Amino acid sequence: MGVVTSKSRLSLQQTAAEAAYHRCWYPVALSAALASDRPLGRDFLGSRVVAWRDPGGRAVVQTAWCPHLGADLSVGQIADGRLRCSYHHWSFDGSGRCAHIPSGDKVPAGARIFTYPTQEAWGLVWAFNGEHPDCDPPRIPDADETTIAFEVRERGRRSWDTWVAVSNGVDFQHLQTLHGIPRVSMPSELQVEASGIEFDIESPYHRQHGRISGTNVFAQHLRMGGADLFMMFCGAPIEPGKSSGFLVVGVPKDQPERLPGVLAMAERLNDEDAPVLSSMRFRRGLLTASDRHLATYFKYVENFPCFAPPQ
Ligand code: FES
Ligand SMILES: [Fe+2]
Repeated sequence: MGVVTSKSRLSLQQTAAEAAYHRCWYPVALSAALASDRPLGRDFLGSRVVAWRDPGGRAVVQTAWCPHLGADLSVGQIADGRLRCSYHHWSFDGSGRCAHIPSGDKVPAGARIFTYPTQEAWGLVWAFNGEHPDCDPPRIPDADETTIAFEVRERGRRSWDTWVAVSNGVDFQHLQTLHGIPRVSMPSELQVEASGIEFDIESPYHRQHGRISGTNVFAQHLRMGGADLFMMFCGAPIEPGKSSGFLVVGVPKDQPERLPGVLAMAERLNDEDAPVLSSMRFRRGLLTASDRHLATYFKYVENFPCFAPPQ
């Protein structure tokens, strides 16, 4: 475990054991799946985490391996407001400190589990890969949770890296060639920030305000035919080449009847991308002039800071 400042690698050659992952906010689980009476386990960043709610209802995400003998804490219990290991009942509070050992032995100084900075947004529990977050959780352009009606879906395990899938958001050519969307326009430029990329497109047919957060979230506000819709595609690495995915869709609060149509559109886009993303052997190959925004994105990814989470 520790901060890794080296540049990330645009490569699939990393093994889980050596991997550092981008310092991003990652979706770990649906908020609705988190309970205060049982822990939830998730494969995450080449390791495993346990998610639960503390007595105050706050979402907690921690390394799942017990510091005693390495039992998986996600098969443990929540007891007395703490996460308890099934094996010998060491129990851990929401800060990761071992608060109790039933044998009465002195608690060893190193008896702690790593606690990820955690927040809830868009119906998801987000964990930041680092000791202290250096940005806010991902957002959807021009929207917040009070101004739109939204739905969130878990998409399950996928055979691709999140940062490869997110390149879709600035791959404007594939909208026409793969998705068959006519009259695709490109932004003149991307606004690249330390932990995100934004762009705006105004065409006679539509308006798009897109945002990449970290290297694992693409969100957009689209206005087409006078109607507004919102989408967020996000995921978390399980290990290099494998990830878990989530999807948020939204519409203005007074038009909830449009939600199923927007959800169907987002799922169709995902389903059309999936055969390509799950089988491609990514390389930053021969980019042409039309790929200039992709080139900007790949450079941003290459320079994105990493952190090696505890294994
Ligand atoms: S392995 Fe967890 S308490 Fe012994
Ligand atoms: Fe796509």
